[in-house]
Amino acid sequence: RAGRPFEGKRIMITAGPTYEAIDPVRYIGNHSSGKMGYALAEAAAAMGAEVTLISGPTALECSDPEVRVIRVTSAAEMHAEAHRFFPEADIVIGAAAVADYRPENQATEKIKKSGDSITLSLVKNPDIIASLGKLKKQQYLVGFALETEKELEYARKKLHEKHLDAIVLNSLRDPGAGFGSSTNKVTFIDKNLEITPFELKTKAEVARDILHEIHKRLEN
Ligand code: C5P
Repeated sequence: RAGRPFEGKRIMITAGPTYEAIDPVRYIGNHSSGKMGYALAEAAAAMGAEVTLISGPTALECSDPEVRVIRVTSAAEMHAEAHRFFPEADIVIGAAAVADYRPENQATEKIKKSGDSITLSLVKNPDIIASLGKLKKQQYLVGFALETEKELEYARKKLHEKHLDAIVLNSLRDPGAGFGSSTNKVTFIDKNLEITPFELKTKAEVARDILHEIHKRLEN
């Protein structure tokens, strides 16, 4: 049991980017690789949890066949799937880099090249983790924050505004941390503003650190 502290727990994780369609062949996306979310899913399963991974488009495959992987493309789809699995979850981790905006209209045919400039109108996507924060009952809800300035201040603000129990701050200042990389350097901040910084490590190790921090707080 010692090695499987999450036995009997259901963990839902969002991972990867979302693609917001412009027309049938084009989209707005971002450089999220999904590595951190997949590492969390694999580590959580290894720690005994029943894991549902809601993944945006990535080149990754989950190495653990026990993890239930739900593949989605857009933020709207991720939102729907996350809300579908939320009621049965004990722990939710939002590691996805959800697009903040989507094209207002999705063209049904490929947009033809015409004038020297075109204008794309964007509308805001729903904030998935913030929406779950409002519905929260037993769930321990963890978000990620990636900031380039006033990191702690913005992370704390997000923690509060999205009704999170904890937030993982990604440091962009360190080479080897963040998007695409196999390593990451994070700081775990809980709702009591207890701040736990970690060294630069592989994403697999970072995943275990994050899950241990969550586990400690659920024990108390
Ligand atoms: O506000 P910001 O996008 O920086 O917050 C990041 C956190 O919120 C991450 O946990 C991310 O997965 C989540 N998020 C979300 N839905 C959005 C935007 C962000 O769940 N539309």
